[in-house]
Amino acid sequence: MLVSPKGKRYFRILDPDEILNTNDGQLQMQKVMENGFGSRLATHLGKTYTVLKPTLYDLIKSVKRRTQIIYPKDIGYIIIKLGIGPGSRVVESGSGSGALTTALAWFVGDRGKVYSFERREEFANLCRANLERNGLASRVEIINRDIDLGFIQKEVDALFLDVRTPWDYLEHIPEALLPGGPVGFLLPTVNQVSMLLEALEEGPFSSVEVLEILVRRYKPVPERLRPEDRMVAHTGYLIFARLSPKSVEIPLEDDGVHEGDDSEPF
Ligand SMILES: C[S@@+](CC[C@H](N)C(=O)[O-])C[C@H]1O[C@@H](n2cnc3c(N)ncnc32)[C@H](O)[C@@H]1O
Repeated sequence: MLVSPKGKRYFRILDPDEILNTNDGQLQMQKVMENGFGSRLATHLGKTYTVLKPTLYDLIKSVKRRTQIIYPKDIGYIIIKLGIGPGSRVVESGSGSGALTTALAWFVGDRGKVYSFERREEFANLCRANLERNGLASRVEIINRDIDLGFIQKEVDALFLDVRTPWDYLEHIPEALLPGGPVGFLLPTVNQVSMLLEALEEGPFSSVEVLEILVRRYKPVPERLRPEDRMVAHTGYLIFARLSPKSVEIPLEDDGVHEGDDSEPF
């Protein structure tokens, strides 16, 4: 990630033969390679650019958007609740601009896979282009298809839907997700959440949770530390559940000792 004197950010996969044309002059990528992350380099017009290793937050912010995207504050919790980590196989829909896809691809690593379903070809292409720019495309299969037709994969570890009417597709989840596996949804209005909850009650789902995540930023001024005047008050509601596990008949003897968590909200 190359940051201009005015804070403009350029994202590149390193190609030593490339010459980056900026508003402040040309920068040779060969020089960027030689000096590495954390260096400051001058363009041929003498303007200083900083070379930084992008964090996942930087990559998500850099996604070119033509749809609503999921914000980092929500993505962080989604990743944890769905248990996404190295080797995970995860299905999501829709791909949209690929903000969530970028994060899923980051966490599944080289051994995992993200299967991202998108019904509109232009958004499938946009998501692919964003992933290629971020160097994460090899971890993602983008499937240009309506999830009304079902998911193709079987026994994936987790599934996430960011579509307007997720209740229409719940029937396809058991074919795709491991029994007991985590499923999540993002919806912008409470009316949609109610519709989804009613549908989840009808299906093979348990451990349903509804929440939203608020981030309150502070002005980082040591002697006048206080919250920012404005905040992003709403992005979407997050809904999580588990696909019901398979029932296995095992007679149990009760020894009176019970272990487990106390189900306090976390
Ligand atoms: C809000 S966007 C997703 C944004 C994405 N999660 C992100 O973080 O960038 C919703 C996407 O779902 C797609 N979509 C809606 N219904 C769909 C369906 N039935 N099958 C596949 N894609 C669908 C839309 O075309 C749209 O691109």
